[in-house]
Amino acid sequence: MTGPEIVIRVAREGDLDVVSQDGHLSDAVLQRKLSDGDVFLALGDREPVGYLRLEWLWSTLPYIERIWVRESHRRAGVGRRLLAHVENGLAGRGHAVLYSSSQADEPAPQAWHRRMGFEECGLLAGMNEGGVGEVFFRKALGPSGGAT
Ligand SMILES: CC(C)(COP(=O)(O)OP(=O)(O)OC[C@H]1O[C@@H](n2cnc3c(N)ncnc32)[C@H](O)[C@@H]1OP(=O)(O)O)[C@@H](O)C(=O)NCCC(=O)NCCS
Repeated sequence: MTGPEIVIRVAREGDLDVVSQDGHLSDAVLQRKLSDGDVFLALGDREPVGYLRLEWLWSTLPYIERIWVRESHRRAGVGRRLLAHVENGLAGRGHAVLYSSSQADEPAPQAWHRRMGFEECGLLAGMNEGGVGEVFFRKALGPSGGAT
């Protein structure tokens, strides 16, 4: 079975409602990220099915602040496509490493990160609500580590 064609593009101001639906960021912060080109949208049959927001550690190291795929479209390669798009863009700009993270009590996204070639690189204890820790990941970009 083949699913809908997935197209990835940089998110625009008109996509604000879609890329803000997790409620983690204020509209003002999101506006800035949109104008910086740090938010990417996945479209399936022209409908939004996922997004990825980049952040920058020390203002220089790329970090996935959020990746989200609509539940009905999970396990169909949308997350992989978003990641590959972002990885290729970053590698093309000379970045060697991409960082990401996931709540310590959420095994599913952790498994996805490992499947995508990320390796665990540390834990910040008690960072989330309820004292839950955050597991950090990193992935080498470029010919040996980048997504295809
Ligand atoms: C994590 C998430 C982005 C993955 O997106 P997705 O589109 O479902 O993932 P893909 O279909 O691209 O998966 C790629 C591969 O990882 C595997 N995979 C996906 N989810 C997995 C899971 N929960 N456990 C193990 N493997 C998983 C897929 O089976 C696929 O394997 P393959 O290489 O054999 O084809 C999605 O589940 C999601 O939005 N979760 C909620 C938000 C979240 O937790 N985000 C991460 C922290 S910010």
